[in-house]
Amino acid sequence: MLPDLPEPLPPPRDPEEGQPRLKRLEEVLLRHAREQEVSDRRWIPIPDGIQDLYEQAGRPRPLFRAFRLEEALGTPARLYYKAEFYSPTGSHKVNTALAQAWYAREEGYTRVATETGAGQWGTAVAYASALMGLDAVVYWVRNVYEWKVDRRGFMKTYGADVVASPSERTTVGKGVLKENPDHPGSLGIAVSEGLEEAQREEGTIYCLGSVLNHVLLHQTIIGLETKAQLERAEEVPDVMISCVGGGSNFGGFILPFVPEALKEGGIRFLATQSEAAPNLQGEYRYDYADHAELTPMLKMYTLGHQKDLQPIMGDGLRYHGAAPILSLLRSKGLIDTLAYPADERHVFQRAQSFIATEGFLPAPESAYSVAGAIDEALICKESGEEKVIVFNISGHGLLDIPAYREKLGI
Ligand SMILES: Cc1ncc(COP(=O)(O)O)c(C=O)c1O
Repeated sequence: MLPDLPEPLPPPRDPEEGQPRLKRLEEVLLRHAREQEVSDRRWIPIPDGIQDLYEQAGRPRPLFRAFRLEEALGTPARLYYKAEFYSPTGSHKVNTALAQAWYAREEGYTRVATETGAGQWGTAVAYASALMGLDAVVYWVRNVYEWKVDRRGFMKTYGADVVASPSERTTVGKGVLKENPDHPGSLGIAVSEGLEEAQREEGTIYCLGSVLNHVLLHQTIIGLETKAQLERAEEVPDVMISCVGGGSNFGGFILPFVPEALKEGGIRFLATQSEAAPNLQGEYRYDYADHAELTPMLKMYTLGHQKDLQPIMGDGLRYHGAAPILSLLRSKGLIDTLAYPADERHVFQRAQSFIATEGFLPAPESAYSVAGAIDEALICKESGEEKVIVFNISGHGLLDIPAYREKLGI
């Protein structure tokens, strides 16, 4: 995507004062990831080894027409959803976890450190590391760690070391706990803890699950498949919708459509979020990607890297910043955004309509995509427009039943 952006992407930079972060990041990020981060090549081949892993992980994944949902809504719109929930661990996160773990083994690392919010990324890393014979340590936002007991067990089954964040294992975690022993945790803090661990421990690499260019690149497999599938169905999308935390599933879904849309228009890209963390409605400026300011500064839409954000059930969407590539596109008016109320009732009710017609249980984060698609389809019902609405369901919610129970009172 980099050579096709309307203007060059503002590069990451060091703050005016203090330690150089860019240099330090070089020591903890994969060489392949760093190269891909700045590559201006339009196509980067997927190594055969990663293609084999993708095949085993269920790629290509289906794109379904939501006939029953359309009928129940009485909308003239045609709805299509990409089934990223056809995934061994539950979500799209395996697309980049498998790539990063494969590169990590190629580069001679033995251990991976990471953060996770919803736990989907942590599980994907645990799975990919197990397949590649690597150890994994996962710093998991505490409030989610506490209620997703079964997903925690799932991660551990792969052999991962799973730590509630903030933790006593790092200087960053200890500092946060000293100020507030009951801190619910945040993705920004979990990133800081994972980075600290990767810097400290020999043979350990840090893998990030969202935001950065190389992560979005790995996720473009979603959009590339969707494009081919829509062509086969002889459909052209009018609206593409998905949820945004840091932006990896939305980015991967829309980016293959963006170069043409920049030239010819025609597609509306809609990012759904929570009012608890509407980062795409924040300020477009340089900010840190983590709480403790260990990362370089990225030019992105941000709510502020140390802002307290209220926990939600779709906690994978609770992050202060949006991917720099998406932020640039938003600053140019190419991405619309819609933030749903933080009580999440509307979003879960929409997910229930989806389950009752299509049969699949979306992850809480993906319920935001479903809500966006249904609300758009109902607007079409009012106007009579026969729009083609394509949305991405980034994960399943089979391990998130407590959230459905609480929000729907079932
Ligand atoms: C299922 C699912 N979808 C979406 C997200 C949001 O992340 P991103 O914006 O990187 O896709 C998460 C994050 O944890 C997730 O678990």
